[in-house]
Amino acid sequence: MELNFQELDSKTRYKLLTAAVIPRPIALVTTRSSDGTDNAAPYSFFNVFSDDPPLLILGLQSRNSRIPKDTTNNIRQCGEFVVHLVDRPLAEAMNECSVDFPEEVSEFDVAGITRSSCRFVQVSRIEEAPIAFECRRTIMLQINENRELAIGEILYMHARDGLIDPNTLKLNLPKYNIVGRLYGDLYTPVTETFAYTRLSHSEWLKKRTT
Ligand SMILES: Cc1cc2nc3c(=O)[nH]c(=O)nc-3n(C[C@H](O)[C@H](O)[C@H](O)COP(=O)(O)O)c2cc1C
Repeated sequence: MELNFQELDSKTRYKLLTAAVIPRPIALVTTRSSDGTDNAAPYSFFNVFSDDPPLLILGLQSRNSRIPKDTTNNIRQCGEFVVHLVDRPLAEAMNECSVDFPEEVSEFDVAGITRSSCRFVQVSRIEEAPIAFECRRTIMLQINENRELAIGEILYMHARDGLIDPNTLKLNLPKYNIVGRLYGDLYTPVTETFAYTRLSHSEWLKKRTT
């Protein structure tokens, strides 16, 4: 089967993309509005794209009425956000944060998540999250009237105690309990891993001849 993306409507493209590109990490993004309301919402058009500088990208879609979401407005206006990774215990609250609450409602007050402070940004952090990245907006790319990409530079990382070994800085995967998004309402934990050693060209040649 072949599909020409240039001829598909956006709903069909969304359906195919979100079913094919799985699992996607979930950024539970907190921001602060200009009147001081703490906002939280999940975004799975999200990933890390660079370590030097350390950059994250969020794909922000408008609401049906072409009105930007609160997260988009807040990042535009205040230039700061915090990206939290979502583990199994936080998943239900993450889903509640996706409700289209009016902008004056703080998801912190309705989704059972706790405010914690940040080091370098004026945005509330979610205490319950296993990992949080304090970010400063570098660029907002307006792709069209419905779609913006927010690129943020990570300034600071918070990790739950016991998750990262302080000596080796290795993350303890079994303790992480991270979830990814599949399509629709489906999510998945990381239950199985496997490893391949990555070789240099000379190692690969040596292996081939032995
Ligand atoms: C797991 C999950 C992932 C989502 N990913 C995105 C996304 O990548 N982009 C987007 O525009 N909306 C996404 N949404 C929908 C937003 O979370 C939802 O529209 C929310 O109400 C936006 O809140 P805000 O107005 O406070 O920013 C996602 C929802 C869920 C449950």
